[in-house]
Amino acid sequence: IDVMLQPTPALTLVAIGGILDLYVFLGPDPESVIRQYLQVIGYPMMPPYWSLGFHLCRWGYTTTNTTRHVAQRMHNSKFPMDVQWNDLDYAAKRRVFTFDPWRFGDLPEMVEEFHERGMKYILILDPGISSTSPPGTYPPFDDGLKRDVFIKNATGHILIGEVWPGSTAFPDFTNPETRHWWEDCITDFHSKVPVDGLWIDMNEPASFVQGSVEGCPDSDLENPPYTPTGVVGGQLNSGTLCMSAQQKLSTHYNLHNMYGLTEAYATHSALRKVRGKRPFVLSRSSYPGIGRFSGVWTGDVRSDWEQLRYSIPAVLQFSLFGVPLVGADICGFGGNTTEELCVRWMQLGAFYPFMRNHNDKPNAPQEPYVFGQKAQAAMRSVLNLRYSLLPFLYTLFHHVHATADTVARPLFVEFPTDPNSQTIDRQFLWGSSLLISPVLEQGAVDDNTCLNKGQYLLLPAPLDTINVHVREGHIIPQQEPALTTIASRRNPFFLTVALSAGGWARGDLFWDDGDSLDTFEMGNYCYVIFISQVVSDPVRLNGALDGLVLGGLQVFGVPSTTSLYFSVCRPQKDNDDILQISVFVPKNQTVLSAGLCVCPLPQVLTVTSLALPMTKVFTVQWAL
Ligand SMILES: *[C@@H]1O[C@H](CO)[C@@H](O)[C@H](O)[C@H]1NC(C)=O
Ligand SMILES: *[C@@H]1O[C@H](CO)[C@@H](O)[C@H](O)[C@H]1NC(C)=O
Ligand SMILES: *[C@@H]1O[C@H](CO)[C@@H](O)[C@H](O)[C@H]1NC(C)=O
Repeated sequence: IDVMLQPTPALTLVAIGGILDLYVFLGPDPESVIRQYLQVIGYPMMPPYWSLGFHLCRWGYTTTNTTRHVAQRMHNSKFPMDVQWNDLDYAAKRRVFTFDPWRFGDLPEMVEEFHERGMKYILILDPGISSTSPPGTYPPFDDGLKRDVFIKNATGHILIGEVWPGSTAFPDFTNPETRHWWEDCITDFHSKVPVDGLWIDMNEPASFVQGSVEGCPDSDLENPPYTPTGVVGGQLNSGTLCMSAQQKLSTHYNLHNMYGLTEAYATHSALRKVRGKRPFVLSRSSYPGIGRFSGVWTGDVRSDWEQLRYSIPAVLQFSLFGVPLVGADICGFGGNTTEELCVRWMQLGAFYPFMRNHNDKPNAPQEPYVFGQKAQAAMRSVLNLRYSLLPFLYTLFHHVHATADTVARPLFVEFPTDPNSQTIDRQFLWGSSLLISPVLEQGAVDDNTCLNKGQYLLLPAPLDTINVHVREGHIIPQQEPALTTIASRRNPFFLTVALSAGGWARGDLFWDDGDSLDTFEMGNYCYVIFISQVVSDPVRLNGALDGLVLGGLQVFGVPSTTSLYFSVCRPQKDNDDILQISVFVPKNQTVLSAGLCVCPLPQVLTVTSLALPMTKVFTVQWAL
């Protein structure tokens, strides 16, 4: 389908044919339009907590030992990281559901080692199933043949294309039997290699031959009267299957764009059954509704400044499309990166909802530890910032899952009546409370940041800095960072409070065990509301908050003064007395008796060393 935006304003759609179902969402504002759209296509899944950590991948980690070495160097250099990945290097002759007996012979042991260290492991899974292994040697194909799971050509024979392993057949995920066979393949593989998630690539579906190894019949399906202008190769069947191919539900012509969606659905439900935990799937191909099953990355981007910049609109679009778990390959996939580009990309990438550094085989390495000390320090610092913000990010994902909100949010969605916000695509928000203003130009050390109703400020942004602003009236729940989310989830929480001019602020926290199925639907979660002067009110408690404590808070916008009294108390209903607490003032580390705080910065109240159980209602108050 061609979609052309006209100046009138108007929209022209030119389709190759078929039935057009048009929905018009009336809003009235952008946020309502998104919500109305998601009511049709389905609300996004809740991702596992660990999947919001840092992911590291490369095509070219050619052995288990290379892969181990990478994870070890990340750990030694103190970069937070949750998930190590492998590209197709792991597979024997590039055939999925196998692993190379020499280079990856101890893959199961490697995955267990990662698990013991609190890390996760993901590998790539392409849909193409090699069709030329000797009979009896490759169960996914033999079994698939028996169970009749593959797409057929126009004359009813299995359609053979060509992908990484050579000749391949393509599973027809619209066939329920195929989904069972896929689940069996995943179950069998998982019993040997206990992967934590799956990365489904090449699922447009991509093929290196046009249509099939036999070509395609000459028909209106292959060459319709009109071919949309943007089609790769100028032919519907270029780089993919014949449009006349037959699937259970219909011809491929009618289903082509949904191949990735149907594979994501099958993979998501297989992982759900096999692991009994919240599935993680990452897909290259996408279609409306895929956010219910999968995250999406923006494909093979080049390592250059232009692609860094365009990754922002790409990520924001997927937000509008109901795919909140999205990111671009940090530092770029194609071509060599540079140190400066990679630092700036890690800084922006720390605010992609899905954060993965991924590199192509022929390129110079781009793992954070390969760069100079200054670059490493900048990357470490922004990774720690992201890890500290994960409770907030996770809470945003909860709101997307429960009420069709957005995580990465364009400014025009938050400020629909401000015309200045409509064209801003170099900055974006997390939810409604954090403004992210990355540097997107080579050599730049400052940032033209739109802060207030069309007012731009030039803010310093040397290489170690990304400007992130907390919006007035908001409270951000954070946690001390650690090298994995398993560790960071055990650390004390702290709150960043930005008071409004009227001295008011609000925030919330959604918390559960991070990877059980359907915690929201089953009520197995906690929900805490924070209101300034800080009241913490656990409005729902179910399990997972036990043992978690608030360790401190930082309040911006308190009246300017040299000293403040403050107190922390819990209401009498728990039969608790007012807590006696000590206050550490970070700048000079003076320990004061309870109740008096000398503010080291004007208008900022910093309280540390609190140990307030978050299962109880408590209040933090201050006065001049
Ligand atoms: C990996 O390293 C270990 C320890 O050095 C060695 O024993 C093993 O043979 C290596 N494995 C491979 C596949 O090279
Ligand atoms: C379908 O595949 C068979 C077997 O490869 C081949 O003989 C036949 O020509 C193909 N049909 C079409 C329409 O391509
Ligand atoms: C990229 O880096 C690799 C390894 O350092 C080098 O061999 C290659 O020539 C570089 N490519 C380009 C295009 O500069």
